[in-house]
Amino acid sequence: MARGKFYITTPIYYPSDRLHIGHAYTTVAADTVARFKRLQGYDVFFLTGADEHGQKIERAARSKGKEPQAYVDEIVASFKELWRLLQISYDDFIRTTEPRHKVVAQKVFQRLYDQGDIYRSTYQGWYCTPCETFWTARQLVDGKCPDCGRPVELIEEEGYFFRLSAYAERLLAHIEAHPEFIQPVARRNEVLNFIRGGLEDLCVSRTTFSWGIPVPFDSRHVIYVWIDALTNYLSALGYGTDRDERFRRYWPADVHLVGKDIVRFHAIIWPALLMAMGLPLPHRVVGHGWLLVEGGKMSKSKGNVIDPYDLIAKYGVEAVRYYLLRELPFGADGQYEESNLVRRLNSDLANDLGNLLYRTLTVLEKYGEGVVGEPGALEGPDEELIALAQVTPARVAELVEQLQLAEALAAIGQLVSRANKYLDETAPWSLGKNPERKERFATVIYNVLEVYRFVTVLLGPFMPGFPPRVWPQLGLDSHPELHTFDSLRWGAFPPAVRVVKGEPLFPRLEGEI
Ligand code: ME8
Ligand code: MG
Repeated sequence: MARGKFYITTPIYYPSDRLHIGHAYTTVAADTVARFKRLQGYDVFFLTGADEHGQKIERAARSKGKEPQAYVDEIVASFKELWRLLQISYDDFIRTTEPRHKVVAQKVFQRLYDQGDIYRSTYQGWYCTPCETFWTARQLVDGKCPDCGRPVELIEEEGYFFRLSAYAERLLAHIEAHPEFIQPVARRNEVLNFIRGGLEDLCVSRTTFSWGIPVPFDSRHVIYVWIDALTNYLSALGYGTDRDERFRRYWPADVHLVGKDIVRFHAIIWPALLMAMGLPLPHRVVGHGWLLVEGGKMSKSKGNVIDPYDLIAKYGVEAVRYYLLRELPFGADGQYEESNLVRRLNSDLANDLGNLLYRTLTVLEKYGEGVVGEPGALEGPDEELIALAQVTPARVAELVEQLQLAEALAAIGQLVSRANKYLDETAPWSLGKNPERKERFATVIYNVLEVYRFVTVLLGPFMPGFPPRVWPQLGLDSHPELHTFDSLRWGAFPPAVRVVKGEPLFPRLEGEI
């Protein structure tokens, strides 16, 4: 059953403020992939965490009159609370203020210095604090940060530099030889163009503030926050310590899932650091799109931040997860609209998914005493429905493997729609009234319930709260062997099971917003 290991990460978020729905999107997507891989029998390691150092955090803390550590402790607690509400199944949560992380970040820095990949020099350039990014004068757009358009600060200081330029050729060669390394292809092209435009050595230390990990051999400097942050993917595995079993088991990462805003750090700086360390590179860096709100990107200053905590309280975790995962086609941006969430809840979840079970169990209780019968000969649309059910698990697995989660949900939705149409075509409510059609009635109900078993198993990673509500209704609560990915072979649903119709799974919301 074991299918090998699978290591997936989210970005570690800045605890400069509470998380919004965009951060929730990344983490829910990574969680879904992790859960799906576990369902398939992979040995999964799913990492998330918090990126707690840097000028931005220090300023945010001071502006609230707090010590940075006390400030981040509070916000990180709110992260963990959100992940609990969203049913995020992370295997570890790494904080860059933890000793286990600092040790590794310092070891990496020291080693790169010892071997000459980090050297001392003078830096003059422009710094964007919100992005924690250095820019040269040439890179600025109208004198502002080319990424976010905000003002930059001129910085001139002694510092340590990473020989990024020395890795440009090897990086290009790697990206060219591994088309899957950066996805989707638009992000890959951006990175290629960026590298071809020329890579300069990167300033990897700061002296103008102190909220960071000290450079091990020069304590006036702290390690640049992006270098500190990227090493979290290694420190959480115990890399470089005498407890490195996880590192040996899980490295290299299979997927670094990140937003498109930080692909460059993960697809240029990170692999260059790993090359310098002599470590294998991650298999894939996947950059997803942004969830936009009216007016563009969510930001505090625009006052258009969507709070996931409120949304979960209002609609429930399943609707929120479903909406996020269904809304952004792979790699593309999506527009956040509460009315779309309600529409999806009413149409996809209430009308299609919830109703399919409700209608079927209603007729089975009415005409079949709630007991699933033995299926007979196939006729009419049976084969088409069964054929679709049989190809759906592999199709969904392939789409999840490609991180195409909206498309994977659409594929499951197609099977649900086909089954609803099948009910209309076969009309078991008429068959049930006719004693001569008992076998046909049993066959139709069997087919729909077996489809529902497939759908329930496949939806579990997307909406973890869903299967536990369905299994008792299908009478399969005490059949965990029928809840697995490998059990999705047509005909495993045991006849003679008694179903228990419950309340509709997703009540419609009427005119509430
Ligand atoms: O960049 N839509 O942290 P961060 C979709 N600490 N995703 C969004 C989003 C939106 N509107 N807004 C944010 C950092 N995200 C660094 C990462 S990793 C070694 C260090 C998601 O708190 C998206 O994944 O600014 C983005 O990359 C991430 O949040 C940035 O979170
Ligand atoms: Mg950001």
